[in-house]
Amino acid sequence: MESLGSNLIDEQPIPDLLPYLRGRRSIRKFKPMPLPQEIIDKIVEAGTWAPSAGNVQPWYLYLVLNLEVKKKLAQAALEQHFVARAPLVIVVCADSSRARSSYGMRGETLYSIQDTASLVQNMLLEAFSLGIGGCWVGAFREEEVKEALDMPHHLRPVAILPFGYPDEKPGPRPRREIREIVKVVA
Ligand SMILES: Cc1cc2nc3c(=O)[nH]c(=O)nc-3n(C[C@H](O)[C@H](O)[C@H](O)COP(=O)(O)O)c2cc1C
Repeated sequence: MESLGSNLIDEQPIPDLLPYLRGRRSIRKFKPMPLPQEIIDKIVEAGTWAPSAGNVQPWYLYLVLNLEVKKKLAQAALEQHFVARAPLVIVVCADSSRARSSYGMRGETLYSIQDTASLVQNMLLEAFSLGIGGCWVGAFREEEVKEALDMPHHLRPVAILPFGYPDEKPGPRPRREIREIVKVVA
């Protein structure tokens, strides 16, 4: 479909994102080369442009490069060893004190999870656009992750994101039919 031209950045129409959204895959095999700092910076910045309730931005990130710590994270992630083989592992945390101070319980239990989820997706998409693979790892023992990173009480780890140059090219995983998940209310 032609762009209507209403969304311009620096006078340039932005492309339809759908082909990119279709093309992103979870990557679990990485080449061992480290990621350039410029790429890490872009991935992190992309996360910060995510929407958040009241613009509270209740997130905090650990950028883990240390192999021993990565191994502890892989262990905490129910022995998902590919986590330790990623050149960069980002642990995304929800900052409950920030979230609570603006919106009470709803901020802490709902918005902070939604806000950090949108930060995660921004980072995965930015990484993909730069040729970097990543995977959203949500299966982990929270206390073990907190211990591995010596995390303060007010932070809750919500996602572990291994990143690196992809060493696999998985095909798309099936999606549910649109008609199965949509009800039109006219
Ligand atoms: C909340 C959440 C938790 C996930 N946890 C894991 C996980 O622990 N390990 C893993 O390998 N993939 C995990 N994934 C990735 C999904 O398996 C993957 O996104 C899904 O199968 C669709 O594949 P695609 O990302 O390639 O489209 C998780 C994804 C989400 C959104």
